[in-house]
Amino acid sequence: MEVQQSLTVCVTGAAGQIAYSFIPLLLSGQVFGQVKIHLRLLDIPKMETALKGVVMEIEDCAYPLIGDIQSGSNPKELFKNCDLIVFLGGFPRLPGMERKDLLQKNANIFKEQGEALQEVGKEDVKCLVVANPANTNCLILSRYATKIPRQNFTCLTRLDQNRAYAQVAQTLNKPLSSLKNIIIWGNHSTTQYPSIEHATADGQSFVLSDQGQFIERIQKRGAEVLNARGNSSVFSAANAVKDHIKDWFNGREDTLLSLGVLSNGEYGIQNGLCFSYPIRCLGAFKYEIVSNLELSDFSKQKLKVTEEELIQEKGLAESI
Ligand code: LMR
Repeated sequence: MEVQQSLTVCVTGAAGQIAYSFIPLLLSGQVFGQVKIHLRLLDIPKMETALKGVVMEIEDCAYPLIGDIQSGSNPKELFKNCDLIVFLGGFPRLPGMERKDLLQKNANIFKEQGEALQEVGKEDVKCLVVANPANTNCLILSRYATKIPRQNFTCLTRLDQNRAYAQVAQTLNKPLSSLKNIIIWGNHSTTQYPSIEHATADGQSFVLSDQGQFIERIQKRGAEVLNARGNSSVFSAANAVKDHIKDWFNGREDTLLSLGVLSNGEYGIQNGLCFSYPIRCLGAFKYEIVSNLELSDFSKQKLKVTEEELIQEKGLAESI
């Protein structure tokens, strides 16, 4: 098939694990289809040699879709002319670190990257934040890159949504393709609310015999994987990054999706928080927040809990 157009895509944390799984998906056409990709790879100076190795491997794949490649540690060089930046790089949670310490370390990284974006970024660049705490990192990034429209900032909750679909399919013993509209609300953390309230299986609404167990399973799935592997989720995260970008870019009619986006107050959530909502992806990186779903009191209470956590995270980030 003929290559139709090109996109410039930057990946941060490019020598890291998720990038190592995501880059092959990107360059083999599984994200954008037959679109040429000019690649920008950013990582910290300490990772310079490893990053060179990643570039060598990309070259050795001889991907027909690869355009030019630039790599380095300066966001002001690498963010220039980008159409999309995937923020995989963050400070990892080390043993004994409090959430507040993690927030602080990452707030500084995302402040610096937001400033770089403001200085050299294209005004229509799209951003996907994956590094944790993803929602609050995304909020900080947007705060420092004010020339970029707020709807261009998103964070990843598609991993949670994919997990929820898989668990429901197993529980109901139904194919994944029969399920629609399972929604992740709020923070990508243990307060997130995976909801089946508006979901259908074969077009019919359904209940789970133990909804509490389902919610907790999804909320704690990241930790469950971490404990089993001794390491965070990698290829399932990269796969969710692929799904998020692909549907955001192409549009998706058949189901609601979950993306963390900046709130305009929908469902009473504080304006400006980065909150995972039910989203309709319209194509060409456009989307709308579906803001008219009826919520039960149970759901409203769950939304409050995860909103409260995001307000606290925002407060901590602002105090830094
Ligand atoms: C996940 O959901 O698997 C990760 O976000 C967990 C983590 O802290 O790396």
